[in-house]
Amino acid sequence: MIKPDAVSNGYTGAILDDIIKGGFKIVALKYIKLSEVTAGQFYAVHKERPFYGELVSFMSSGPIVAAILEKEHAVEDFRKLIGATDPAKADEGTIRQKYAKSIEANAIHGSDSDENAEIEGSFFFSAFERF
Ligand code: RTP
Ligand code: MG
Repeated sequence: MIKPDAVSNGYTGAILDDIIKGGFKIVALKYIKLSEVTAGQFYAVHKERPFYGELVSFMSSGPIVAAILEKEHAVEDFRKLIGATDPAKADEGTIRQKYAKSIEANAIHGSDSDENAEIEGSFFFSAFERF
């Protein structure tokens, strides 16, 4: 998911370009705005974390781009492409190092396991929207 900060800062095209050049196939793609309710559901795993409330309001503050991506070792390789959660600690050339401003407004989300990738993909897309 390209987060609201990156979309509103005009980085959608550049980020999709980095993803495609990184060897990922786009299986599904959508431009939508989450409500506080849907953002809260998406990040329900972080419900007990101190930043949950701010994360939910940030993630529903503007449109996002959701995608399902495919690649060998996709989860691991995508996390390498996006970089550390805190952009100040992200490696040179990673998406967060290039396009993110803070630990919260960090430009992009990546699934942390194949299992969660399946759950998160189904959160946004029906079977008819995947190619
Ligand atoms: P993501 O799930 O969005 O790909 O990010 P991540 O795995 O790198 O980080 P995670 O620990 O899962 O945290 C989810 C998102 O919550 C926000 N966050 N804010 N204020 C803070 O200390 C803090 N820590 C995390 C970030 O937007 C992070 O991506
Ligand atoms: Mg995470």
